Formats: sequence, C-alpha cells, structure tokens
Amino acid sequence: MQTLTINTPSCASTIYCGSGAFAARTALLNRERLFVITDSNVKKLYGGLIEQIFGNAPCHVLPAGERSKNYRRLMQILAAMLSAGVTRSYTVVALGGGVVGDIAGLAASLYMRGVDLVQIPTTLLAQVDSSVGGKTAVDFNGVKNIIGAFYQPREVIVDPMFLSTLPRRELRCGLGEIIKYGALDSDIYGRLTAQDNLFDAAFLEDMTFACISHKAAVVCADERDTGGQRKTLNLGHTTGHAFELYYKRRSHGEYVLIGMYYELFIAQKTGRCAPEYARSLIALIKKVIKKVPAFADAESAAGFAKYDKKNAEGSHISLIAPGAVGGSVEIILPAEEYCHYIAQCRDSLIQEEDKHA
Ligand SMILES: NC(=O)c1ccc[n+]([C@@H]2O[C@H](COP(=O)([O-])OP(=O)(O)OC[C@H]3O[C@@H](n4cnc5c(N)ncnc54)[C@H](O)[C@@H]3O)[C@@H](O)[C@H]2O)c1
Ligand SMILES: [Zn+2]
Repeated sequence: MQTLTINTPSCASTIYCGSGAFAARTALLNRERLFVITDSNVKKLYGGLIEQIFGNAPCHVLPAGERSKNYRRLMQILAAMLSAGVTRSYTVVALGGGVVGDIAGLAASLYMRGVDLVQIPTTLLAQVDSSVGGKTAVDFNGVKNIIGAFYQPREVIVDPMFLSTLPRRELRCGLGEIIKYGALDSDIYGRLTAQDNLFDAAFLEDMTFACISHKAAVVCADERDTGGQRKTLNLGHTTGHAFELYYKRRSHGEYVLIGMYYELFIAQKTGRCAPEYARSLIALIKKVIKKVPAFADAESAAGFAKYDKKNAEGSHISLIAPGAVGGSVEIILPAEEYCHYIAQCRDSLIQEEDKHA
C-alpha cells in the first residue's frame, strides 16, 4: 500500500492506495460513528462486505447513475443523517463512483457545517481522479456541478479489488482520464506508450497511483482552481463536455478522449503541437476507443462549449490541449473559428473512413 498526503490550506488529506488498503484502513474506523453512502449497484455487489466491515452503521443507498446527483437527493441524504442522529464526531463514508463521491462529499461539507469524510472510490474514474482533490457538487436546473464546495476528505482509500466487478465500459471511462494525465505528465506518457494492454489490472493499479500523485501535486499548488495549474486538468474537456452534453450516449471518459482527439487537431492546425507527438497520442486514444466518431452534428455540438463558463471568455472559447510531451497549451479562439476547426476535424475523419471502406 502506498501513501500520499495532500496538504492544503484547508486541511491535510491522506490517500492510501493499493491492494489491502480497504481492509487495513476501514479496520481503524469507529463503526459506532459512521454514516455510509453508496449506490444501488455497489450495494448489490458489495452488500455482504458493507455489512461485515461497517456493521450496523446507517447506510444510505442512492439509485445508481448520474441522475441521482441532484439537489433533491442531497436533501434526502441530509434528512437521513439527521434522523440517524449523526453528530459532529461522525464520519461520512462515500463508497462508490464519482456520483456517490461528489454528492456524499457535499453532504459532509454541509451537515453541521462539516463532518469528517472518507472517500472509498469503487470505479476507475473515481480512483484516478474524482475522489482526490476535494471538489464536491450536485447538478441543478440542468447545469452540471453548479452547486458545490471545496471539501477535502480526511482520507481516500483506493483499493483495486473493486475494479474486478467493473464493466469494461467503465474501465474505458477511467482510461479516458488516465490518458489525459498521460498528456500532462511525461512519466505517465512513457508508461502508457510502452504498454500493450491498457486494461491489464496490474498496469491500472500502477497508473492509478501515478495519476493520483500528479493530481495531488496540482491540488497542493492550486486547491481552489484559481492559479491556473488546476485548469490544466481540463485537458480535452472543453470539447469532450460539449459533445457529452449534446449526445449523452457514451461515458464521460470516452468523451474526454474524443474531445482530446478533436482538440489535438486544433492544436496541430494552430501550430501548437508537433504532428509526430499528436500521432502518438492518437495511437493511445485508439487503444481505448477503436474508432473516433465523425459526429454529423459536430459543429452544433461544439457550440455547447460556449455555454460552459469555464471555457467561454466573451465570444471566445478556451481549451487546454496537448502541446509537447508533459506539457499542455491553452488555446483561445473565436467561437466561430473553434466550430470551424471542429467541422474540419469531423470531415477529415469521414475522409479517413471512406479510405478504409
Ligand atoms: N469531483 C471531481 O473532481 C470529479 C472529477 C471527475 C468526475 N467527477 C464526477 O464523477 C461522476 C462520474 O463518476 P463515475 O464515472 O465513477 O460514475 P458513477 O459513479 O455513476 O459510476 C459508474 C457506474 O459504475 C457503477 N459502479 C460503481 N462501482 C462499481 C464496481 N466496483 N463494480 C461495478 N459497478 C460499479 C455505478 O453504480 C454506476 O452505475 C460525474 O458525476 C462527474 O461529474 C467529479
Ligand atoms: Zn473528467
């Protein structure tokens, strides 16, 4: 088990990562003072383990899926905490993917102005990314993550045993974020390019700690996302989120990879990324999603980027794209030029498809 501590002005957050982390760390929790939050899929798969480890601690079960990440469900959690008699000396345990982690984290930050929080991520995406860093949120009025707080977990317990039940689609989702880290970190990039099977369990375990280490350093430097460093973690996300909002069909991580592909095209066209490096990243992307879609409506979908406050600067779109090995570049373009490049990239994908037909 490897350990890492994030020291931020708000508090210290320790991450325990590796096989055996779950058994070792949960044994130290006070069962009499826990409030567990999970989702219906995790409960179905790990109900026995939950009972064995957390005993009679109250366990609040959310319906699985992004649709639970809302204000109404948040209020239900807070009501359940109140009726279970949770006090300030309790610890909220978030056992699940990013949805559980985000809503449980926000509930922990609000209840009695903050009770201790332990994150136990059970998806690859939550292990490599969302459980670390203290961003919590729910979606509201159709806007993603619009109500939230920065709230660091006291500890994060990352145990690869949970990945054995994860469907391949969810592994692909986590790999989307891992490849994003590859574009930001030369060491991760080197290991990804040297690996044939990105789905290999031992490899994913190594990658998880590497990605967490990268994110931890960024969070220490820029916890509140104001200094520019944390913004780099949005690589591929401007276009990825726009496609995700418009199409809603694939997982978040797949859209991140698709977004990266389209943004790599823009980075090359604007002379910000060398073709050879772009080709190597594209090869990595294609190890996870065999065929990058030539979305018929790519231009309209990209228009959604304008509605995301994080990317829109007046009439311009800002995106974080791969630049050189281990370094990203911020590209700011007029919205029409951005949409034009996206359409060009789509057309080049269609041409490629025709060539292979
Ligand atoms: N806070 C952050 O910094 C941050 C960063 C990235 C993403 N997020 C958020 O994370 C969420 C996405 O997280 P996610 O991809 O983990 O989605 P998720 O929590 O919906 O989990 C995906 C699916 O996997 C199931 N599942 C969970 N653990 C399992 C296991 N061990 N075996 C089998 N099935 C399991 C879940 O029930 C769900 O159906 C989004 O809401 C996103 O906004 C937050
Ligand atoms: Zn993401």
